[in-house]
Amino acid sequence: MRNLFFIIIIFCGGLFSFSQNYKAKVDSIMSLMTLQEKIGQTVMYGGSWDQTGPIVGADNGKYIREGNMGAMLNAMSVKGTLDLQKVAIEETRLGIPLLFGYDVIHGHRTIFPINLGLSASWDLKMIEESSRIAAEEASAEGIHWTFAPMVDISREPRWGRISEGAGEDVFLANKIAKAYVKGFQGDDLSKPNTILACAKHYVAYGAAQAGRDYHTVNMGEGELRNVYLPPFKAAVDAGVETFMSAFNELNGVPTSGNKFTLRDILRDEWNFEGFVVSDYTSINELIPHGFAKDSIDAARIGMNAGVDMDMMGHLYRKFLKNLVEEGKVSEAYINDACRRILLAKYKLGLFDDPYRYINEERENTTKYKPEFLAKAREIAAASSVLLQNNNEALPLSTNTKKIAFIGPLVKDEYDIIGNWAAKGDRQGKALSVFEGISEYLNSDQILYAKGCDILKDDESGFGEAISISKQADAIVLVMGEGHHMSGEAASRTNLKIPGIQPKLIKKIREANPNKKIILVLMNGRPLNLSDEVNLVDAILEIWFPGTMGGAATADLLFGEVNPSGKLTVTFPRNVGQVPIYYNMKNTGRPIPDNNPKEDYKSNYIDVPNSPLFVFGHGLSYTTFKYSDFKLSSQNLYTNGTIQASVTVTNTGNYDGHEIVQLYIHDKVGSVTRPVKELKGFEKIFLKQGESKIVTFEISVEDLKFYNSEMKFGVEPGEFEIAIAPSSDFRFKHSFNLLD
Ligand code: BGC
Repeated sequence: MRNLFFIIIIFCGGLFSFSQNYKAKVDSIMSLMTLQEKIGQTVMYGGSWDQTGPIVGADNGKYIREGNMGAMLNAMSVKGTLDLQKVAIEETRLGIPLLFGYDVIHGHRTIFPINLGLSASWDLKMIEESSRIAAEEASAEGIHWTFAPMVDISREPRWGRISEGAGEDVFLANKIAKAYVKGFQGDDLSKPNTILACAKHYVAYGAAQAGRDYHTVNMGEGELRNVYLPPFKAAVDAGVETFMSAFNELNGVPTSGNKFTLRDILRDEWNFEGFVVSDYTSINELIPHGFAKDSIDAARIGMNAGVDMDMMGHLYRKFLKNLVEEGKVSEAYINDACRRILLAKYKLGLFDDPYRYINEERENTTKYKPEFLAKAREIAAASSVLLQNNNEALPLSTNTKKIAFIGPLVKDEYDIIGNWAAKGDRQGKALSVFEGISEYLNSDQILYAKGCDILKDDESGFGEAISISKQADAIVLVMGEGHHMSGEAASRTNLKIPGIQPKLIKKIREANPNKKIILVLMNGRPLNLSDEVNLVDAILEIWFPGTMGGAATADLLFGEVNPSGKLTVTFPRNVGQVPIYYNMKNTGRPIPDNNPKEDYKSNYIDVPNSPLFVFGHGLSYTTFKYSDFKLSSQNLYTNGTIQASVTVTNTGNYDGHEIVQLYIHDKVGSVTRPVKELKGFEKIFLKQGESKIVTFEISVEDLKFYNSEMKFGVEPGEFEIAIAPSSDFRFKHSFNLLD
């Protein structure tokens, strides 16, 4: 069918040059659209490539032809997207191009560490580079839009999706959100190697009750505005084009039907101009939530609340037209939603060339480029965190006569790329730790035994593992979770290393009381390592490190690269401490610093309040000394700034990176303030013996918060300040904020 769209384009082309006045172009095409065609743009169905939830039953070709589909998820590849796009362009009345979306979360083909791991690099440039590469690879396979970044703050290690975020801290998460958006979207969306980003899951999904996925969230507005909303606002400030509403309810109102968060905050306060997509059938889920009485009601609530596109739900397509005709949904909402979706298509250049992402040569030459793999190796090493290194157990010498590598993940190429690994190949591409260490050692130096599985309780491999451990000069255990044990719908109530792996660790220590034992951990969440810290000498947390993870791990084990990652999430002593995070409140009965056992204080009787590993913790093979803290003034005026500085010296025997952290504590507020808050950080490189002065500038902007009236501002008074290697310190300095 010769469609009207091209007539419009020719017409508009005369009036506007490329990239001029998108809005007018969209308005002119909208003037030709019927109400049902406009609704069609708000509909997203899935291809059959992948599914992450129930398929509600779709005949994609039919819906596209009818003009009843504006976007598709999980449809990709040049061949696949070409076939679908041709139907949209050639066989519909208006020929409006489809938008193809996919979960490109921590890489597309070349897989980087899981996002929690990426955040532990504290390296914004690297994070931006990882999403840039992901966009290069994804766009070469026809994808226009990623459902990322997930910017949900989470202080909940039981929640499997903590692996997809940037940890527990709002300051760091804001910066990371911006880095991802910049990487995915680039500086010009009309370039075919850029894709739309999507800030998800709006909002407070990371606070799911008891860490159970999709669960209830009850939260005061102060906490919502001070902690959970800011990374979304940061994404808006970075120009993110789309948002995804979440599955959870918030204070009794499901977030996919929540006018307060979607219209009042996102549209009216933040002036967000992009479009909002629901999560997978999250509009339909308003019914089991008990917020909509049936599907028609759910469609009405979703659109009225401000969800512009219905992902997989079939509700907008079926019910919106009648709802508008009955006056239950305003036509203006449909027009707004359609306009925003068409604008995104325009920005991508799809109205100029709907096939611009469909290029066979790019598809064949873009994936797994050597430079992408080299970056993935560098980033995986920077994301790993050396949690413990007693008696300098690491690095290992490549001259060690025999090293035993034991554990279900030593030879793993499958779990190592983690959950939500897009189109990353789980076999044949990812390098296992075993392959990584083989670059450094001769085969006669390597002993290997699997020992056990991740979850099964078959101990028949223990004998061999113990036997090779006895023959070795050093032992490396590679253990942890399977990739499916974190991510969506993968909540755990037990935070121990799963299965019989802890038992094997114990047996290996018993058989080798004096030998160096290194534990390399793959996992998607903070674990309870309270037993293991006493059984092994060193613990290297590599998360799920991605395609080049095995090589990066070997680089770290043998000291080719010095570990530099630091935790962005607290590791508890046990699950009973959860939620536990560094920026908690003091309470009216804090534990005195020197007497943790005092009665009637806010503590436990069985474990200390402190976690096992604090936020910001991470060791290096070298040591750093912090000295000479200076404040440029004791007084900060509301229109001014002060500088805080410290000298950091590399006092050890290796060159290395250090992540220097600035913390502030607002001592008294009209609402209580956290005991400390990260307010700055800098990653520096120091050669052995080298010193650097690190300076942070502090202004009132850094001290603002939402008070009980939800006003954002500062309150004059005393503020404590410290520059430290982690969040584990006591304040010694302070300044005053004066009017
Ligand atoms: C997840 C989203 C994801 C979507 C599409 C949902 O189940 O919650 O994060 O983007 O599926 O795959």
